[in-house]
Amino acid sequence: MADKGGFAHYMLKEIFEQPQALRDTIAPRVSLEAGVVRLEDVHIGSEELRALRRINIVASGTSRHAGMAGQFMIQTLVGLPVDVDYASEFEYRNPLIGGSELTIVITQSGETADTTAAQREARAKGSRTIAISNVVGSTIAREADGVIYTQAGPEISIASTKAFTAQMAVLFLFAVYLGQERGNLGKDQVRGYIRELLALPGKLENMLRSAPDCERLADKYHQVQDFLFLGRAIHYPVAMDGALKLKEVSYVHAEGYPTGEAKHGPNALIDESLPVVIIATCDRDDSGSVLRYERNLANIKAFKQQSGRVIAIATTGDEEIRRLADQTIFVPATPELLLPILEIVPLQLFAYYMALRRGLDVDHPRNLVKSVTRE
Ligand code: BG6
Repeated sequence: MADKGGFAHYMLKEIFEQPQALRDTIAPRVSLEAGVVRLEDVHIGSEELRALRRINIVASGTSRHAGMAGQFMIQTLVGLPVDVDYASEFEYRNPLIGGSELTIVITQSGETADTTAAQREARAKGSRTIAISNVVGSTIAREADGVIYTQAGPEISIASTKAFTAQMAVLFLFAVYLGQERGNLGKDQVRGYIRELLALPGKLENMLRSAPDCERLADKYHQVQDFLFLGRAIHYPVAMDGALKLKEVSYVHAEGYPTGEAKHGPNALIDESLPVVIIATCDRDDSGSVLRYERNLANIKAFKQQSGRVIAIATTGDEEIRRLADQTIFVPATPELLLPILEIVPLQLFAYYMALRRGLDVDHPRNLVKSVTRE
């Protein structure tokens, strides 16, 4: 698994491995017929899961962005409050946690020093911990009470891609599992979520066909030195990770921001020299999503009036956004909570092609390492 398999770089190979990584992460844990999610290595009984009053998610880099998406998934499906923390900040926050909180640590490598320290602090304060990791037997996985492995295969490229989408799939699985164990979700609801999860790999396969469009975007924008990435609600973490990918591999300055916050400052930056990438998808079956969509539409119109350049991520068939934005990449219709797993793919590809067009070493960006094992 750990060679390039004919791809020019590990990053591109790992982007294209995402459908299989999702299949391997989801399939062994769901039974559509029984309407059940099974997470055998969680090792926390349903009594204890029912007694939980709060969840803390702690992680670094891209893994924290997965945690931000997981916060929406768990709060929406389970009704439990969730906090998300930078692992590197956790120790300074004097976290008020104990036996009735669960700490989820998300880490591709399972060796990140900040995240290891955060897990040890949470355990010392009496919180049970669950690790979501991509490396079997890693330090953080071994020290946790329970573990849910992403089955993404070895991720070599410093910029995390397939581990990220697999982490979000695991967080959705966990949210459904919690809802099932705590009695919030009935079997038919679980079946519905399982059906949507099982449809994801095929949809992501479709997304990969947008690679040439993303390459053309990089051709058009490769000399630009600053970008603003915007997303609302569960799409904000996607904007954050799209910006991080671009920074990591192409050294272009990019900032991820909640779309609604653009009017509190970043708007002053927006003109023809600073392109805006905006996540403007819409799940028509979700009233909150429709409301956010209408606001995104108004934002795009305003940015265009400021002579801004807009790259939109929209839902397949959305002709209005195609007309309004300068460029649009489409995502197949998907339930709101699962959209981030698809929306990030064009942003991964865009960052990859931008790095390529700028003649950089995509798999080994300067000053970065795959796992920061010391403070
Ligand atoms: C950084 C990596 O060093 O660490 C990122 O470059 C990663 O890709 C972050 O998201 C956290 O690493 P891990 O292994 O704890 O998920």
